[in-house]
Amino acid sequence: MKVIILGGDGFCGWATSLHLSAEGHAVTIVDNLVRRRTDEELGAVSLTPIRSIEERLQAWRETRNTPIDFVQLDVAKDYEQLEQLFRDIQPDAIVHFAEQRAAPYSMKSPWHKRYTVDNNVNATSSVLCAMVEACPDAHLVHLGTMGVYGYGKTKGMTIPEGYIDATLRSGGAEAHVEILYPVDPGSIYHMTKTLDQLLFLYYAKNDGLRITDLHQGIVWGTSTPETDLDERLVNRFDYDGDYGTVLNRFLMQAAIGHPLTVHGSGGQTRAFIHIRDTVRCIALAIQAPPERGERVRIMNQMTETHRVLDLAQMISGLTGVPVEMRDNPRKEMAENDLVVANDTLIKLGLEPTKLSDGLMEEVLHIAGKHRDRCDESRIVCSSLWVKPIAAE
Ligand SMILES: NC(=O)c1ccc[n+]([C@@H]2O[C@H](COP(=O)([O-])OP(=O)(O)OC[C@H]3O[C@@H](n4cnc5c(N)ncnc54)[C@H](O)[C@@H]3O)[C@@H](O)[C@H]2O)c1
Repeated sequence: MKVIILGGDGFCGWATSLHLSAEGHAVTIVDNLVRRRTDEELGAVSLTPIRSIEERLQAWRETRNTPIDFVQLDVAKDYEQLEQLFRDIQPDAIVHFAEQRAAPYSMKSPWHKRYTVDNNVNATSSVLCAMVEACPDAHLVHLGTMGVYGYGKTKGMTIPEGYIDATLRSGGAEAHVEILYPVDPGSIYHMTKTLDQLLFLYYAKNDGLRITDLHQGIVWGTSTPETDLDERLVNRFDYDGDYGTVLNRFLMQAAIGHPLTVHGSGGQTRAFIHIRDTVRCIALAIQAPPERGERVRIMNQMTETHRVLDLAQMISGLTGVPVEMRDNPRKEMAENDLVVANDTLIKLGLEPTKLSDGLMEEVLHIAGKHRDRCDESRIVCSSLWVKPIAAE
């Protein structure tokens, strides 16, 4: 297949690009490299020494004798170039990772809030519009997030894959319908993913575009069999308070002997997936496109759920590094339960990698190897969800 990977220089995108290339697909990466500039803005580089995109692609050519093409453009802004690229390549599938993906970053300031909305919504809108014009038969696979469902009280109910049966009552009449699961975003970033859902619904209904939306859990780990092939192929490892995700942050904190920072009560339950499973899920999803005119296919891309405090205590038990409770900068429930259906990807062939499979030690090892690159002042999250009220 000819596959375009939007955001292919990022954490999930780079590992996916290599995996799909290794599987024999003709891959083109599109990226504006904004994530590398954000590293400079935040003064927090990847814990692993990632190479320039040119060096990465050269290393892949040398390792596998398979080229991956690269086009630098802004998916949210360079519409004509994007449409022309789709016209020229005529992709079978487009995988869309090209969004600002950190909740804390999206809450930092008015600029960061507006940038996240502008970038994410315009990127998705432009991709869909260009597909209608240039490649209406292509299959769009988008990375959404479990966060669109929110983390409210579900009273033990299983979160379904995107849709739920509902009974609507108004004016004395009653209608039984299937609707998108009610959204409940917990940050500006998560809100953009709920807006993406409406764009998908519209373009699938109106233009018959074939769209799969993967509501992904928090990704942990950093390496895949392909990124392990050469040190120049190493994947990013974000550890800072903005981009670092919870489990990788705990593992990295343990590796350098920094207390494991739990925000709030630690009773928040979240869904997780290892990066190796992320890339397999994308490979499975592109092989199973919906028909033209079918509704958006939504899958929950996660393999297990855990309470944040349980994770911290598990890693503390493994390493002897203490847990430190901190104020929660987020506006969220202190505790929630989370039961999630992930039947579709399992039926497509996903064999879940679990925390118990020994890969936590691998991440500890990688974090320990690069501990000198860590700037400890960047570990703590400084973004606040709600503006403090000035004292009189
Ligand atoms: N990492 C996770 O734990 C996680 C969890 C759930 C969902 N996701 C989703 O997966 C996707 C990828 O996440 P990631 O962790 O790889 O993020 P990332 O920031 O590492 O990668 C995103 C890539 O997209 C590029 N990009 C952003 N805006 C762009 C634009 N306008 N034009 C061109 N390129 C642009 C960036 O330069 C970067 O290389 C995101 O959409 C995110 O919401 C990630």
